[in-house]
Amino acid sequence: MQNFDYMTPTRLIFGKGVISKLPEVMSGFGKKILLTYGGGSIKNSGLYDSVRELLADFEIYELSGIQPNPKYDPSVLDGVRICKEKGIDVILAVGGGSVLDCSKAIAAGAEYDGDPWDLISYKVRAESALPIVDIITLAATGSEYDCGGVISRTETNDKIGYMDPHLYPAVSLLDPTYTYTVSKKQTAAGCADAMNHIMEQYFCEDSTQLGDGFMEAGLRSLMINTRKCLDNPEDYTARAEMMLACTYGCNGIYSLGNSYSGWPCHGMEHALSAYYDITHGEGLAIITPEWMKHILSEKTVDRFVKYGVNVFGIDSTLDRFEIAEKAISETYKFFESIGIPMHLREVGIDESRIDEMAHHVAENEGLEEAWVPLTEKDIAEIFRASL
Ligand code: NZQ
Ligand code: ZN
Repeated sequence: MQNFDYMTPTRLIFGKGVISKLPEVMSGFGKKILLTYGGGSIKNSGLYDSVRELLADFEIYELSGIQPNPKYDPSVLDGVRICKEKGIDVILAVGGGSVLDCSKAIAAGAEYDGDPWDLISYKVRAESALPIVDIITLAATGSEYDCGGVISRTETNDKIGYMDPHLYPAVSLLDPTYTYTVSKKQTAAGCADAMNHIMEQYFCEDSTQLGDGFMEAGLRSLMINTRKCLDNPEDYTARAEMMLACTYGCNGIYSLGNSYSGWPCHGMEHALSAYYDITHGEGLAIITPEWMKHILSEKTVDRFVKYGVNVFGIDSTLDRFEIAEKAISETYKFFESIGIPMHLREVGIDESRIDEMAHHVAENEGLEEAWVPLTEKDIAEIFRASL
């Protein structure tokens, strides 16, 4: 087992109706709130009105229109400007992972005198950030329980996972009923994202029995409960369990004591959604089985055997490589069965920019350090096999 130094300072408040605690929560941070949200889902669901009503005694400024794969320009820059001009005390992010990620970059930028891109690109480390509270409305990223935000800069095709301990939300309010309105497409993509977060931690050199069991249970729970959510979007128990499994995703708790895997599928997918603005979870679902096939070898086969037997119930007496191949094919079939388009062409990506994207990933994502190192050539092969 590897050494670790671990802390997640986020207060999680979970369950039906927890939004009623919002005034108490916000009053701990001050009066001036920047309310951030996306393209309108919170208005359609009524959540926006509830928030405004509960916070009638606060001074609220708004940043709306934050897009999926949130953009540095205009969203982060606008948010930073409002925070500085109005002397904002706290950011309240209401929406999916994109709204929360954008808010994290704003929180850091608001306390920094230079260009916020210095922070996102790790040229300068943040010394502080505004506190962040969130009401997450989509089970997927785990941004509500981690210190990362993923920001896109269109003109350079950059999509950077920006992590900094100052960016843990202070409080996350998680009410599964606010995910009832999430579309089938986004429910399935959220499941694929969360499953991949687990796989990125599971497929590594050094792991523990404890962590493996936790992650295998996480994967099974996500598969079972996503199917239930797709059948009945208002199944509270299924939405709740899906939400919790997603929340654990990226803050390291699934893999305490494990060696680092390098998160290769995320490294590759960030280029796909930077160049083509596709849905992150769909991009992951498409490339994951091809990455698995690509890295299957004598070195990795036993990990795939454990995954196949414990997650999919494959007969453990079969030949090791047969189990591994079945496990990869079950992974593909599951994603396909929940309605995810399983080829890059189906999400608008063709051959034309594959080499350029592979080069970008190889230059920027450090995948030669991954559990199974990936060169530019490997990355291009995985992209091509995913077409
Ligand atoms: O913009 P609105 O109108 O709110 O609509 C959103 C958006 O169109 C909609 N939506 C959200 N909640 C809804 C809802 N529609 C109906 N009912 C609701 N309750 O769903 C659409 C997608 O939202 P988005 O926030 O983009 O989805 P998600 O939460 O999957 O976030 C994806 C982003 O997070 C990054 C991804 O790269 C991507 O940019 N990631 C962040 C991570 C992190 N911070 O730890 C880790 C992940 O690996 C991931 O990279
Ligand atoms: Zn992800």
